[in-house]
Amino acid sequence: MIDLSAQQPAPVLAYTPQVAAATAAVYDRVRDVIPAIEWPVHAPYIEAIERLKKERNAIVLAHNYQTPEIFHGVADLTGDSLALARMAAETDADVIVLCGVHFMAETAKLLNPAKTVLIPDLKAGCSLASSITGADVRLLKERYPGVPVVTYVNTSADVKAETDVCCTSANAVEVVESLGVDRVIFLPDEYLGRYVARHTDVELILWHGHCEVHERFTGDQLRQFRRRYDDLQILAHPECPPDVLEEADFVGSTSGMIRAVGERRPRRVVMVTECSMSDNVAVEHPEVEFIRPCNLCPHMKRITLPKILDSLRHLRYEVEVAPEIAAPARRAVERMLEVGRGSQAG
Ligand code: 13P
Ligand code: SF4
Repeated sequence: MIDLSAQQPAPVLAYTPQVAAATAAVYDRVRDVIPAIEWPVHAPYIEAIERLKKERNAIVLAHNYQTPEIFHGVADLTGDSLALARMAAETDADVIVLCGVHFMAETAKLLNPAKTVLIPDLKAGCSLASSITGADVRLLKERYPGVPVVTYVNTSADVKAETDVCCTSANAVEVVESLGVDRVIFLPDEYLGRYVARHTDVELILWHGHCEVHERFTGDQLRQFRRRYDDLQILAHPECPPDVLEEADFVGSTSGMIRAVGERRPRRVVMVTECSMSDNVAVEHPEVEFIRPCNLCPHMKRITLPKILDSLRHLRYEVEVAPEIAAPARRAVERMLEVGRGSQAG
């Protein structure tokens, strides 16, 4: 459970009996992860956002790392980066509000150039996306002529534009192998790259980008959990360092980890990833005990209910991609969607 009260502006909307009634069903679902004392702060925003979505013919897409009041309160569709890209490609809403980080909103815009794509806070970045630029990729291509470039979606459109095909953590091995070559430049996540390299014979040329959330987990931390808790299932995201993945019972994308909880039905589980995931999944699995080392993504946490409401009211902040970058970047994302079409990898 995360205390965001320090980051939120004071509530300006009233918790009226009508708001309480309109949001009662949502609160019933999340009561184990959101204390009752917090609900009067969230509920008026949830009610107002729901009304405005209808007026605007808008859809809210939320990544699995969004806080429970967003994930369970106002999101129409939720998922990992791959699922969000697919949903963005398929929606017929006029406005897409992307509750996640900037590269996700940019991907949605690439796939829906005619639609209004909004992100509630333009500063919601990503340490992986900021680890590399389009100019860096051009230099690598000069150094390794003819070697295809596979880029994690956690990158700017500028980097995607220099890319042959994108991937996410859910389909990285499949995408690399789809190229049918011996050697690939794989950017920018070194740890995801090392994980992929263990599952393919293709040689990967790596970059040293890291996720600031996942790189903080350690193998020692997980060994301590194993000693302290019996019957513990460790589910880890492939952005974690190799010694962490060594300790894991399952490695997969955020949605892959969620599915694993449903399929394995562990007595105890630790999700080695961003903090809010456990809260969101615990809502669906009250019978599972979640051990919660809490590493927050400061970028994901920039998105709040008041900012989502503002975003819908003022149609801000609109995400745009320059046409000369958008065309090649879109091709790289579309190629990824082609590779994975119909598969439920991760
Ligand atoms: P996935 O949800 O695609 O697994 O990615 C995790 C992540 O860190 C996104 O920022
Ligand atoms: Fe980027 Fe890591 Fe935050 Fe995901 S969790 S948005 S990879 S910094």
